[in-house]
Amino acid sequence: MITVSNLHKHYQMGDISVHALRGISLDIKAGEFVAIMGPSGSGKSTFMNILGCLDKPSEGSFTLDGVSVAELDDDELAFIRNRKIGFVFQTFNLIPRRPAYRQVMLPLMYNPDFNNNAEERARSALERVGLGNRAEHKPNELSGGQQQRVAIARALVNNPPVILGDEPTGNLDTRTSEEIMELFQDLHAEGKTVIIVTHEEDIARHTERIIRFRDGHIISDQPVENPVAASSILATLPVEED
Ligand SMILES: Nc1ncnc2c1ncn2[C@@H]1O[C@H](COP(=O)(O)OP(=O)(O)OP(=O)(O)O)[C@@H](O)[C@H]1O
Ligand SMILES: [Mg+2]
Repeated sequence: MITVSNLHKHYQMGDISVHALRGISLDIKAGEFVAIMGPSGSGKSTFMNILGCLDKPSEGSFTLDGVSVAELDDDELAFIRNRKIGFVFQTFNLIPRRPAYRQVMLPLMYNPDFNNNAEERARSALERVGLGNRAEHKPNELSGGQQQRVAIARALVNNPPVILGDEPTGNLDTRTSEEIMELFQDLHAEGKTVIIVTHEEDIARHTERIIRFRDGHIISDQPVENPVAASSILATLPVEED
């Protein structure tokens, strides 16, 4: 599904050049569930933004579902991003004062295949993440976990094969993080390729493979022995009052 080879990224800030990725090569197969870990500044978000077609590498090749992405222009990149990728962020990135179902409809506006029944699709994506009864709520009327579910519904609504999450549980408490991980595990079980960045070993152990970054390099890439199911942890956690 994803092949990157000798990927480099330089950021130019005036006279200063930051070499954020220094030769990343890896393969991620369709249906894999992967965690990316590493210290702050090691290049994780830079890498995810390239995988998510939000940014381009300075050097190296990147193939996504058979398409050589590094050669595409901005319009082609936007098209691929819309069809192939669902992106979830640490800070949810919802639009203020807009009801949940309209947040979720947004990616469909760029996809003529789904234009005519966009609202219906958006509402069913919200049901899929357990928020069927919150479709009219605005972000400030939802908890953090619910806002992240809206963002996941938005990432799913085009039915992309790849779901990316850059610290998707970074702003959530333990119970809510487990609920979100359960949702990612379900998506993985449905056959989607799921890649998340996390700082927490407990979160990474829900996936099947942990890739560790340091200083723009991969320093280890290992399978997870006995991945844990979020549902088993959820059963043991006390319910916290808001
Ligand atoms: N848009 C940008 N312009 C200039 N430098 C950048 C930019 N984005 C990231 N960097 C630099 O690139 C390096 C890698 O940053 P990146 O955000 O990928 O790290 P990270 O591993 O995601 O860290 P964190 O765990 O704190 O999120 C850092 O030195 C950072 O300062
Ligand atoms: Mg980051």
